[in-house]
Amino acid sequence: MDSILVKGNGPLKGQIPIAGAKNACLALMPATLLSEEPLTLTNAPRLSDIKTMTELLQSLGAEVSSLQDGQVQALSSHNIDNHVADYEIVRKMRASNLVLGPMLARLGQAVVSLPGGCAIGARPMDLHIHGLEALGAEIELKDGYLHAKAPRGLKGAVIELNFASVGATENIMMAATLAKGTTVIKNAAREPEIVDLAECLKKMGAHIEGAGTSDITIEGVDRLHGATHPVVTDRIELGTYMLAPVIAGGEVELLGGRLDLVGAFVEKLDEAGVDVTETKAGLKVKRRGDRVKAVNVTTEPFPGFPTDLQAQMMALMCTADGTSVLEEKIFENRFMHAPELIRMGAKIDVQGGHATVTGVDRLKGAPVMATDLRASVSLILAGLAAEGETIVNRVYHLDRGYEQVVRKFSGVGAQIERIKGS
Ligand code: UD1
Repeated sequence: MDSILVKGNGPLKGQIPIAGAKNACLALMPATLLSEEPLTLTNAPRLSDIKTMTELLQSLGAEVSSLQDGQVQALSSHNIDNHVADYEIVRKMRASNLVLGPMLARLGQAVVSLPGGCAIGARPMDLHIHGLEALGAEIELKDGYLHAKAPRGLKGAVIELNFASVGATENIMMAATLAKGTTVIKNAAREPEIVDLAECLKKMGAHIEGAGTSDITIEGVDRLHGATHPVVTDRIELGTYMLAPVIAGGEVELLGGRLDLVGAFVEKLDEAGVDVTETKAGLKVKRRGDRVKAVNVTTEPFPGFPTDLQAQMMALMCTADGTSVLEEKIFENRFMHAPELIRMGAKIDVQGGHATVTGVDRLKGAPVMATDLRASVSLILAGLAAEGETIVNRVYHLDRGYEQVVRKFSGVGAQIERIKGS
C-alpha cells in the first residue's frame, strides 16, 4: 500500500488550483438517472470516489465516459436495465445511496444496499427513507438492502427533516422533480452542493425554488431533459489548501477559491490571525504573525463551520498559541486523527464530542495512519509543521477526495512524495 512522506520545510509560496467538488459531483452524477437524455458535467474532479460512482451507474445500465483527462463526464441513462445497486460497489462509498431517489422516481422501483464509506459514525438512512415514504414510496429492509417501490408513481408532499441532512435533502429533491404535484422540504440542508445540484436539475427542466435556504419547493414535472453543467468549486479542498501556508508559513493563492463557500472557516482563520484576501483568480492566504492564536470551533451544517474541515483545523490548533476546544456536532466518531496527531507530539484530550487541544511549539515527524479521508490530509498538514519526516500510511483514503495531492503541495514548495507500496 502506498504512503506519503512529508518533511517540514518552512514557507510555501505559489498557487494551487482547486478542483470541482467531490461531494457535488457525487450528487450530480446520479441525476442522470432522472432523464433519458444525456447529462454532461464539466470541471469534474479526478478521484476514486468518482470512479466508484461511475462503476455504480454503469452497473445500472447507464453509459458514463470520461473526456478531457477525466474532467468532463458524459452520462447517459437511456437504457437503465437494472434497478439493483449492489453491495460490492455501494459498500465502498456512502454517497452511493444517492441513486435511490432518482431510480425510484424514474423506474418506480429501486433496490439499494445500505452503504459503507468513511468509518466516522453510524450514518443511518432514516431521513432518506422517511422522505421518500412521504412521497408515497414503500420501503423495506431485507438482507442489508433497501427495497423501494412506488408502483403508482411518487406524489408531492411536505417533508420536515429533523436534521438538515445533506444526502437526504439531495435524494428527496431529486425524487420530487418527477413526482406529481408540489413537494416542500423543510429544514433542508443549505450546503453549496445542494444549490449546485438544484441548478443542474433546473437546467434539466426541473422546477425548484429555495435551494440554499431551509425550505426547498419542488414542482414535479413529467420528464427531465439533457443538460451541461460545471461542478462547483470544492470548498473542502479549498479550505484544506488554505491551511498549508497558515501551518507552514508563506503565502499561497488558491485558484478558483470563493469567500462565499468558506465564510465560517475564514471567520475562524481571521480570529486565529490569518489574512485571507480576494484576488482576481481566487483567494490569497497568509499568516499575520509567527504563530496563530488558539480558537474554539464547533462544527455545524452549512453555513456553519464544516465537519469536513475539523480534522485539518485540529492539525493547525496543535501548534497554536493557547488552548482550543473543537466540538464535533455532526458525526459522533470523528476524532480518529487525534491519536495520530498525539503520536506527533500534539497535546489533545478527547472527551465525547469535544477535543481540547493545547498548542505546542513544534510537532515531531512520525509514522502515522490515515483513518478516513479528511483525517489523512490533516496528517499531511501536520507533517508540514513538524520537525523531521512524517510518513502517512493507508493513503487510499486520500485518493478518494484529493486529486494530485502531492503535485499540489509540492507545487508551492512543500517537500512531499508518494512512496509506492508493495
Ligand atoms: C455529506 C458529505 C460529507 C459531509 C456531510 C456533513 C457527501 C457525499 N458527503 O455526507 O462529506 O461530512 O455531508 O456535512 O456529500 N443522518 C441521520 N439519518 C439520515 C442521514 C443522516 O441520522 O438519514 C445523520 C448522520 O449520521 C450524520 C449527520 O446526519 O451524523 C449528517 O449526515 P448527512 O448530512 O446526511 O451527511 P452525508 O450526506 O452522508
